[in-house]
Amino acid sequence: MRDEDFEKDDPLYASGKRESGTSWTVLNGDSKVVSSALATGSINCVITSPPYYWQRDYEVDGQFGLEPTIDGYVGNLRETFAAIKPALADDGVVFLNLGDTYYSAKGRPHGKDDKHRSRRLPGLRAVDGPGLGLPRKSLIGIPWRVALAMQEDGWTLRSSIIWVRKSAIPEPTSKDRPWRKYEHVFLFSKSPRYFFDRDGLDGEEDVWFIEPDRRSLARGTHYAPYPRALVERCIAVGCPEGGTVLDPFVGGGTTMYVADEMGRSSVGIELNPDFCALISENMETLGEPIG
Ligand SMILES: C[S@@+](CC[C@H](N)C(=O)[O-])C[C@H]1O[C@@H](n2cnc3c(N)ncnc32)[C@H](O)[C@@H]1O
Repeated sequence: MRDEDFEKDDPLYASGKRESGTSWTVLNGDSKVVSSALATGSINCVITSPPYYWQRDYEVDGQFGLEPTIDGYVGNLRETFAAIKPALADDGVVFLNLGDTYYSAKGRPHGKDDKHRSRRLPGLRAVDGPGLGLPRKSLIGIPWRVALAMQEDGWTLRSSIIWVRKSAIPEPTSKDRPWRKYEHVFLFSKSPRYFFDRDGLDGEEDVWFIEPDRRSLARGTHYAPYPRALVERCIAVGCPEGGTVLDPFVGGGTTMYVADEMGRSSVGIELNPDFCALISENMETLGEPIG
């Protein structure tokens, strides 16, 4: 439902306002490019889960996650956050969820996944072929590589929160290592003093036990939604009431739905226009008066 008033190369896909005074905006494009157009200081809190390295195909040209080198992937993310920085308020924070990838170097394509179309990746993944510069079977350490690159760029790393899923997906083919049950949620600030409400932690500290959602508005055409409770926690601690949340890799839109329900404005950036259409439709429905 693109608003025809906007130019073709304008990233604005759809937007709306709520009676409470908050607003929502969906931008279609590459977050590394689009973020630099956001108004200075207009964002209070960034909550996002970018594509992990060689885990899924989001079926759109220019997507992150399928770079031939580790440095290429880390570079794309650090440049995106550098482009976001001017838009983040001086007392703003970033919650960055990232998962890791193993360097299989098997020399043959990743096994077929008939259930998940998005997990079928084109040809030989960079993590299946030779030349990544690590011993075969290595855990790459992607989350920390990104975190340290952002630190080099001047971001203050305040916490490496461990998000634990008790019901994590089993990895029965991995017989010589523990299966993965956690991911990272890095907390960065732009300045030494920033908005943070410890009450929102609900008694937990830097280990968060949050289960995946069984049902999610972000499912359907989309593949990897994170749980609403994860976003709720980040908003409760990191975004003042009435503030604005940005998700530069908004996917199925979880961040925007939760922000809206918690009385925050939201901005989502997404490269795949099909996901922009899904989110816009959901946001319009969520805003309809009940009864
Ligand atoms: C892991 S998913 C996000 C899922 C989201 N947290 C949710 O709950 O639905 C990452 C998203 O980033 C999008 N994406 C990939 N490269 C992008 C880029 N350069 N700019 C903007 N979006 C991108 C993908 O299309 C995908 O929808």
